[in-house]
Amino acid sequence: MALLIRGGEIVTAESRSCGDIFIEDETITHIGLEFTAPPGTELIDATGKLIFPGFIDPHDHIHLPFMATFAKDTHATASKAALIGGTTTFIEMCCPSRNEDALEGYNIWKRKAAGNSACDYAFHMAVTRYDEKTDAQLREIVRDGTASFKVFLAYKDFFGVNDEELFQTLRLAAELGVITTAHCENAELVSQLQQLLLAEGKTGPEWHEPSRPESVEAEGTSRFATFLEQTGAAGYVVHLSCAPALRAAVEAKLRGVKIYVESVLPHFLLDKGYAELPGVEGMKHVMSPPLRDKRNLPVLWNALQAGLIDTVGTDHCPFDSGQKLLGVNAFTQIPNGIPGIEDRVNLMYTYGVKRGTLDIHRFVDALSTRPAKLFGLFPRKGTIAVGADADLVVYDTNYRGTISAATQNSNNDYNGFEGVAIEGRPSLVTVRGKIQVRDGIFAGEPGRGQLIRRQPQYGGHQAGNEAIAHAG
Ligand code: URP
Ligand code: ZN
Ligand code: ZN
Repeated sequence: MALLIRGGEIVTAESRSCGDIFIEDETITHIGLEFTAPPGTELIDATGKLIFPGFIDPHDHIHLPFMATFAKDTHATASKAALIGGTTTFIEMCCPSRNEDALEGYNIWKRKAAGNSACDYAFHMAVTRYDEKTDAQLREIVRDGTASFKVFLAYKDFFGVNDEELFQTLRLAAELGVITTAHCENAELVSQLQQLLLAEGKTGPEWHEPSRPESVEAEGTSRFATFLEQTGAAGYVVHLSCAPALRAAVEAKLRGVKIYVESVLPHFLLDKGYAELPGVEGMKHVMSPPLRDKRNLPVLWNALQAGLIDTVGTDHCPFDSGQKLLGVNAFTQIPNGIPGIEDRVNLMYTYGVKRGTLDIHRFVDALSTRPAKLFGLFPRKGTIAVGADADLVVYDTNYRGTISAATQNSNNDYNGFEGVAIEGRPSLVTVRGKIQVRDGIFAGEPGRGQLIRRQPQYGGHQAGNEAIAHAG
């Protein structure tokens, strides 16, 4: 059925204007004032509301075997949580461990998602080992439409790659024109520091941050940038958390390295004091890189506004209280991760746009348009334009609420932002023209989400920047 969204204020990464949006099947076919819809069109009155392009979360973990357990969400629960929070596409990290076959892992992740996600999705393919089969397998995965890789410079002996494997991965990525996302912490330093702390009897969650200090992340970021420079590959630093790591990334940007930066929701709003809370309360806030000293928070906000941080993701990775308690005797055993897929848009809107720290167009850019451009989803997704997928968020800026595990849709018994106020939320969300959320409630079709296949877009030394400039 056709849909007409009437009377709202359309806000994209570049512009703000009043207009009606007409949708036929899955696509926006007309934008203009006072459009007369054909009979049978469903009318949505968006008067007084903002209309954003569907938000894109570039960094999520849904199926994740990790640290002796599994992340809690399924594709069904995570995608509903995403949609209720205004995210219409997520990119999941496909993470087989170092001991698993990459292609088998890729097929497992695809099977888990297929027919179960209510919103659209794509994958970053993690390279957790580089052996004689890897080259051919990665070529096949890219041909299948997964045009981005992931490497971990952390998590020694599990997901982590060594420098030789990093070099081989980036050489192939440069040849294929795909972008490589990277978790940048020095695995060996983390491992040595963890052992020293445990030997001193320092076992609680408050020791997680000292085991992976800011300089360890800065080293990882700087090393990743150097490898990008030497291979000509395009790279994307995930979940950058602190000023020294940002400085390393910006220095590389200034040298002309094709490096992009993501920071994630918790690092904008929470500091390491949360992980220092006693017992399980502290464990709930253990993630990597860790929550940092609070002097980093304004640095991240300023860098985001300035565009030095390109995108905001969540690194959604829910473990419940029972799972967190696996680390009751040693902080090194606390499953790393925190949920966020449901809360990113509302929290960044409230504490960024509403508080005057973040321009509304940069907000749309960082949470939708730039992820779409960097990862080959644009212009199908990430904007509101004739011909684009009708992924839309009608946003109610008058809504007032409080985040709570009691009302969340993600499958977890806690929320790291418990009790935090929000000033705005999606009142209606569409995915490819179908209404999936009304007034904060999932009202659509479970399992309707599609795997969005992407093309490599970083062909040569100039191609990455060209792709971004061309698209934007
Ligand atoms: O603590 C985190 N970030 N958990 C998820 C895995 C990762 O490193 O992204
Ligand atoms: Zn990570
Ligand atoms: Zn992650």
